[in-house]
Amino acid sequence: MSEDLAALISQMSLEEKAALCTGASAWTSTPVERLGIPELIVSDGPHGVRKVPDVNSMAIGSLPSTCFPTASCLASTWNRDLIREMGEALAEECIALNVDVLLGPGANMKRSPLGGRNFEYFSEDPYLAGEMAVSMINGVQSKGVGTSLKHYAANNQEFQRFSINAEIDERTLREIYLAAFEKAVKEAKPWTVMCSYNKVNGTFASQNSTLLTDILKKEWGFEGFIMSDWGAVRDRIAALKAGLDWEMPGPQDRRVKAVVEAVRNGDLDVAVLNESVRRILNITFRAKITPKTGTFDAEVHHELAHRIACEGVVLLKNNGLLPLKAHEHIAVIGHSAETAHFQGGGSSHINPTKVSVPFNEIKNQATDAELIYAPGYLMDNTFQQGMIDTAVSVARTADVAVLFIALPSYKESEGYDRTDLDLTEQQVALIKAVSKVQPKTVVVINNGAPVVMGDWIDGVAAVIEGWMMGQAGGIAIADILFGKVNPSGKLAETFPASLIDTPAYLNWPGESGEVRYGEGLFIGYRYYDAKNVPVLFPFGHGLSYTTFEYSHPKVSASSFKDVDGVTVKVDVTNTGKLAGAEIVQVYVHDHDASLVRPEKELKGFAKIFLEPGETKTVSVKLDFRSFAFYHTEFKQWITETGEFDILIAASAADIRHTLTVKLESTLDLPCVLDMESTIREWVTDKRGNTIITPLIKNITEMSRQSFGDDQSEGGVGMDTMEMFYDMPLVSVLMFNQQFLTMPPEEMVEGLLRQVHAMK
Ligand code: BGC
Repeated sequence: MSEDLAALISQMSLEEKAALCTGASAWTSTPVERLGIPELIVSDGPHGVRKVPDVNSMAIGSLPSTCFPTASCLASTWNRDLIREMGEALAEECIALNVDVLLGPGANMKRSPLGGRNFEYFSEDPYLAGEMAVSMINGVQSKGVGTSLKHYAANNQEFQRFSINAEIDERTLREIYLAAFEKAVKEAKPWTVMCSYNKVNGTFASQNSTLLTDILKKEWGFEGFIMSDWGAVRDRIAALKAGLDWEMPGPQDRRVKAVVEAVRNGDLDVAVLNESVRRILNITFRAKITPKTGTFDAEVHHELAHRIACEGVVLLKNNGLLPLKAHEHIAVIGHSAETAHFQGGGSSHINPTKVSVPFNEIKNQATDAELIYAPGYLMDNTFQQGMIDTAVSVARTADVAVLFIALPSYKESEGYDRTDLDLTEQQVALIKAVSKVQPKTVVVINNGAPVVMGDWIDGVAAVIEGWMMGQAGGIAIADILFGKVNPSGKLAETFPASLIDTPAYLNWPGESGEVRYGEGLFIGYRYYDAKNVPVLFPFGHGLSYTTFEYSHPKVSASSFKDVDGVTVKVDVTNTGKLAGAEIVQVYVHDHDASLVRPEKELKGFAKIFLEPGETKTVSVKLDFRSFAFYHTEFKQWITETGEFDILIAASAADIRHTLTVKLESTLDLPCVLDMESTIREWVTDKRGNTIITPLIKNITEMSRQSFGDDQSEGGVGMDTMEMFYDMPLVSVLMFNQQFLTMPPEEMVEGLLRQVHAMK
């Protein structure tokens, strides 16, 4: 502990310490004026600064700030530099709006496309989500403003989010649900982390010492403080003991009193409280180094929001109709053409500095075109045949129809999950009716998570995933429609063909207070790969107005040590007529792992901009973790010596080159054989193998004498050794006790002593 902080803490009364660990208002910490301890001011996040000037109000009257695209759109850019730039802009707005810590980014996984809050999360893939979170945190914090990485951990649904118990096996937790947090904590060092509301394996995240102390603080070396989500703490003392430093929101006098009381009656060690105080003070003083004054340039940030939207919008389908010619007669249909749908509902909701309306932006760009507008639907669940009829008549006489379809907030928001992946009945009927009379129909969807399109996609010429694209998204859509911008976004999540195909379908959203993550490691493309389930659009998919060719794939070594890693290179050429950007994805496939592994996993990517005819070499470094998996018996990430394929791809379903390499594991893993280890486990363990191999002959002989074999007359008609292989050695010996000179347990204990003594 720094001496200054230690001296300060020693001057604080017990009451002051307890108060510091609880908010003073909805958005501030409790200052201690007599000691010069200032208040810390936090604000939502994550894709804009939602500063509520009255700190006692949770939501009302937030000040204008830039609404950047939401996380689904951000991740679809696959552009680390751009997300970092956005982080810097967010920090500038925090500085101008007097905010010390921005509550974001969110690094939870999209376990199911039904998650109501998926628009606030990046991806179904932990590597991609982790990279995006790192970039955003680095951007914000580079300007002296803090972040709060949230919601740690396993906030993957809104249904019963305040109480549901997420049952997740340890390996899945490590490899899927914690991995993005781990990357962000280790590589970007967020000032704070926010715990989630839900329970994880039986204990509230806010009171979960395994998550908060053992993993986050000790194992990952997190040095900031952990805050609760708003209202996530049930038992304040248990939470402090587990490592939850700051409870929000405040004021909460009874909580402060409870902490004081617990220290006085010996239930809470004051050292635990001091440690939380130290962490909070450390960040509070760090925040005050950056004076919060001045203004931000709203125009420059609007333009940045525009650039990000241009890169995050994904062209899903194009039969050649796009880009449109600016002089055509265009029917612009859909409520969200005139009333932009650019963000989601809930705590992330921003009061934008201005909004680009798609229809106006189309007018600005298609100055020679004849434009007619029809709203087509309302943002409620009423069915209006008249509106469809009007839209059809408008579309029929036009050269092309552009349909803007936004998912209404009753179908998608923080606070509740979606119940289906469908557009509204009215919207589906509208698309079908319009495309029937006007085959040159482009559908632009504004939503935060996948929708199904089976009913109508074949009838339309093009589909643009416009996401909740932020306040400047309207210009981005117009830019892409008319070819001013060449689309370069790719999906950070799979678009399934139907809800029934999705990985968590049978285990969603849980019952009796519990949700079992029964699909384990297999979420997103990991699931569709494993089950060979066809999808609507694969992870990593996104079209361009140009084409890219991949050539000369190379790897720095065909045989390498895990700690050295390897570098993959490939030349990418823009073979079309327009400048454009390509996202090269690198997946790893393990040939022969001792535990089940997904068919392939994303471990690197790069986005490059290329002029027509230009070639650039993309280089992606793969490290130890690119090849490792979490082993619950060794309680660590391990590699295994063997062959791996490195897949260089344009999407999860478009593998351009495969390189096979040989990895040598440098790990000297401890022996984990015990009394319950099976014969197969003894054989597989490199030390155990040398001990068990000579014994196997005897065991086979003993078994033959006791049970015969599958041919023996009057025998059991089975290959008993096949069964014995997956029984604990001790159990097998028990069946053959008559041949042994000592009890089986004693014999195995002796073997265990030998094997654990081996180098
Ligand atoms: C949300 C958090 C948010 C907090 C403060 C909670 O309900 O889950 O993401 O930061 O409220 O608004």
